[in-house]
Amino acid sequence: MIETDSKLDKLNLNESINTKNLVCRLLALTFANTKLYGQMRIDILTILPELIQGSFEHSIIKRAKDKGLVEVYIHNIRDYSTDKHKKVDDYAFSGGAGMVMTIQPIEAAIEALTSQRKYDEIIYTSPDGETFNQQIANRYSSFENILILCGHYKGIDQRIREHLITKEMSIGDYVLTGGELAAAVMADAIIRLIPGVLSDETSALTDSFQDNLLSPPVYTRPADYKGWKVPEILLSGNTKLIDNWLHEQSMERTKKLRPDLLQRYE
Ligand code: ADE
Repeated sequence: MIETDSKLDKLNLNESINTKNLVCRLLALTFANTKLYGQMRIDILTILPELIQGSFEHSIIKRAKDKGLVEVYIHNIRDYSTDKHKKVDDYAFSGGAGMVMTIQPIEAAIEALTSQRKYDEIIYTSPDGETFNQQIANRYSSFENILILCGHYKGIDQRIREHLITKEMSIGDYVLTGGELAAAVMADAIIRLIPGVLSDETSALTDSFQDNLLSPPVYTRPADYKGWKVPEILLSGNTKLIDNWLHEQSMERTKKLRPDLLQRYE
């Protein structure tokens, strides 16, 4: 608890941070330090494990795994196929081009995993789904077990969506060749929000979108590069003035670049 208090002292609370969000993050921090906050497990089902594996083997996400804050398991759907050729797809009854992923291997994989633990969400990546955003990432970052099924080909047999999936999630209004990149994007956004993953717990609080505002600009040395100067105020050493300036910059950038964010939750 003492550690939590000292961390709280260090928080540079920006007025603009929405209170609900802040309370959630602070509670998460408290639980992280009292060891009540559990580790997360993410299971990903795919027919292309090689495409996604690398996303979890570098930088912050790798360190999170090494610290034991998250476990990521990638499963090859083909391994669950009872077909002698390990087939995972078939023609659509409706005809037309494109193969459809069959129920059997997916059902077997989901059954094998759900018989061992309860999943907070079983997500199917699809352009039809709800659009993933920072608020959803925040909510999912407190989950214990998440299962993500990557879509492919023309899609998956509709009965999988009806009987086995709890959520369909899209990463944007465009169509990818498969759901692997979508799964990697979502997992990355979720994992970095798990308490203890970012070295300075306050940094996720000031992310773009965390409070529906874009981040202010950042600068580093030199203060003058060939006449391109850092704004004077950042060199003033006056933290109150700097905080106000950063907030103004966030507001201005959001109004100019993403005015929709200011209206979204009015
Ligand atoms: N699969 C194909 N396109 C997708 C998208 N935009 N989001 C999630 N999964 C997808």
